[in-house]
Amino acid sequence: MNADQKELIKATIPILRSSGEDLTNYFYARMFKHHPELRNMFNMGNQANGRQKSALANAVLAYAENIDNPGVLLGVLKGIGTKHRSLNIQPDQYKIVGTHLIASIGEVVGEAATREILQAWTVAFYQLAQIMIDLEKELYIENATKPGSWNGWRKFVIKKIVEESAEIKSFYLYPEDGKAIADFYPGQFISVQVFVEELNLSQPRQYSLSNAFNPEYYRISVKRENGFGSNPSGMVSNTLNSKSEGEIISISSPAGLFHLEKDSKNPLVLISGGVGFTPMLSMLETNINALQNKKTVWVHGCRNESVHAFKKQISSLKKKQNGLKHSHFMIQ
Ligand SMILES: Cc1cc2nc3c(=O)[nH]c(=O)nc-3n(C[C@H](O)[C@H](O)[C@H](O)COP(=O)(O)OP(=O)(O)OC[C@H]3O[C@@H](n4cnc5c(N)ncnc54)[C@H](O)[C@@H]3O)c2cc1C
Ligand code: HEM
Repeated sequence: MNADQKELIKATIPILRSSGEDLTNYFYARMFKHHPELRNMFNMGNQANGRQKSALANAVLAYAENIDNPGVLLGVLKGIGTKHRSLNIQPDQYKIVGTHLIASIGEVVGEAATREILQAWTVAFYQLAQIMIDLEKELYIENATKPGSWNGWRKFVIKKIVEESAEIKSFYLYPEDGKAIADFYPGQFISVQVFVEELNLSQPRQYSLSNAFNPEYYRISVKRENGFGSNPSGMVSNTLNSKSEGEIISISSPAGLFHLEKDSKNPLVLISGGVGFTPMLSMLETNINALQNKKTVWVHGCRNESVHAFKKQISSLKKKQNGLKHSHFMIQ
């Protein structure tokens, strides 16, 4: 893209700051009208509570702000790419997003969005799309070469369900094809896809792996999100909570940049709240399994005794790991 086009992109920064979310809100409505099938791929809960539109608006703004040197965004783009990879986003879908994003800029901004501005944004979008497509291609290739791993969705049987507290259940997921599964770093998540009847759509969500790697199964621990006030009950967590042993769900292979390096010798400080302890459990278990037993401090808070999950497992972790200092508090 040329210097004039970069200046035009920079000139749109104030409008992105003030109306970026209106723009992305409009964009999603437009894209879903033309491509209703994509509603199966996007998190409709995040569409309703506004999180996804602000994630995209912030990403577009950050890109405009760094248009002279988009390379500084590579770390952030890698995080987005890992999530995209877990959702099986494909290169040809960038054209759909690009078409509706550029059309939305024209329709939302109106006459101020001149032909030159729209052209500059078209060049800028496809430049960003190409960076992400290349980055994601690498992630797909790297993932496909890991033993036991797979790209896209794979069917897993829920062989065991364990109630961990009044609102958290663990699901033990075994591959339906009986073949090997991929190792993961403690802290990583999987995307889960289930059919949500109230929407008549499939819906993906992410869940941290809540145990150390085990070659037989993955375990996730899901909190049932109850509705309150005008907030409806969570769709996927409630769908999962109504599942029985023997049912099948589709999952991605493990993904995510937030994880422990298995061979690091540094002391560990873990801080979690509520169901946010799931990646910590995986880290703590891995810590013991790998016989590292390094000094670990874990501070965890939850609302009250009824939602205090994994009590037995935590006391057994403490017995096995001398170096673990655990402090737990309740806020109600
Ligand atoms: C990397 C990662 C790891 C995670 N790990 C775990 C884990 O280990 N365990 C776990 O339980 N969760 C985990 N989560 C959260 C999980 O992915 C889901 O977000 C969670 O289960 C809620 O999904 P849901 O479909 O039940 O709720 P949704 O239906 O998506 O709703 C989410 C929230 O939005 C609110 N909402 C929906 N519609 C509206 C509306 N119209 N107006 C206002 N508010 C609305 C709902 O009330 C609810 O509070 C993780 C998330 C990520 C990103
Ligand atoms: C340059 C183009 C794109 C940008 C800047 C972008 C940006 C983002 C960002 C910032 C997130 C949130 C990441 C996170 O929560 O960690 C995200 C998630 C997501 N993206 Fe993209 N994305 C782009 C292209 C696409 C395309 C082409 C698709 C497929 C049609 C897509 C589908 C999704 C989905 C389904 C999610 C998860 C949404 C959710 O769970 O709420 N994205 N993207």
